[in-house]
Amino acid sequence: MGGGFPSCAGLRVAPSLLAADFSDLAGAVRSVEQAGAQVLHLDVMDGHFVPNISFGPGLIADLRKRSKMFFDTHLMIAEPVRYAGAFADAGSDLITFHIETTDNPLDLIREIKRIGCFAGVSINPGTPVANIEPVLPDIDLVLVMSVWPGFGGQQFIADVLTKVEALRDRLRPDQRLEIDGGIDPDTIPRAVQCGADTLVAGTAVFGHPDPGEAWRGLTRTANEVVKNKP
Ligand code: DX5
Ligand code: ZN
Repeated sequence: MGGGFPSCAGLRVAPSLLAADFSDLAGAVRSVEQAGAQVLHLDVMDGHFVPNISFGPGLIADLRKRSKMFFDTHLMIAEPVRYAGAFADAGSDLITFHIETTDNPLDLIREIKRIGCFAGVSINPGTPVANIEPVLPDIDLVLVMSVWPGFGGQQFIADVLTKVEALRDRLRPDQRLEIDGGIDPDTIPRAVQCGADTLVAGTAVFGHPDPGEAWRGLTRTANEVVKNKP
């Protein structure tokens, strides 16, 4: 495990493997790790909570053998409590589940921490911040979806930025605020200005002929925004 991610300072662009060529995932991981990426975003979809199927813990366990990056596992699955252990065993560092999938988020957060991972909670574009308010003190990261989950390559939903701003005011400095969906050179500035510190990018990284170069460009763009902040 990489360790330390949610509490370490600074902006991170986390490449999402969903947009990579699935016939060469090892190559995709290598391209962004060699460029300097420290966080890898892993999108797990079950065909129930979202209308798409991606991959499971077996793939993550195999990638774990090849990479030292911090594994940011985003569970878009209907019963996260049933599978959290398998994703921890596979080598996830952070496990994020959707608040829409459980009535007992606090129990699941405690379980994720007990099995040695950081715990994140995600909200869909239609879910208000109020729904995660009770668990905010207990989580390491909030993931605000800026598209409806299920597919890469969708258009950024700018309305969610009001939630990012509201969360920035509520979170402690040791808690991370991640945004996911439609992140590219045009949308990064707004997301960073509103307070996001962890920026997931799939298509903008792996849709590029040189994913490492694309990751470096996005990281530069994000850091420019911070530098030029009034
Ligand atoms: C969407 C996933 C995202 C997705 C982002 O359901 O959670 O992580 O891979 O892809 P882009 O950056 O292409 O919007
Ligand atoms: Zn994701």
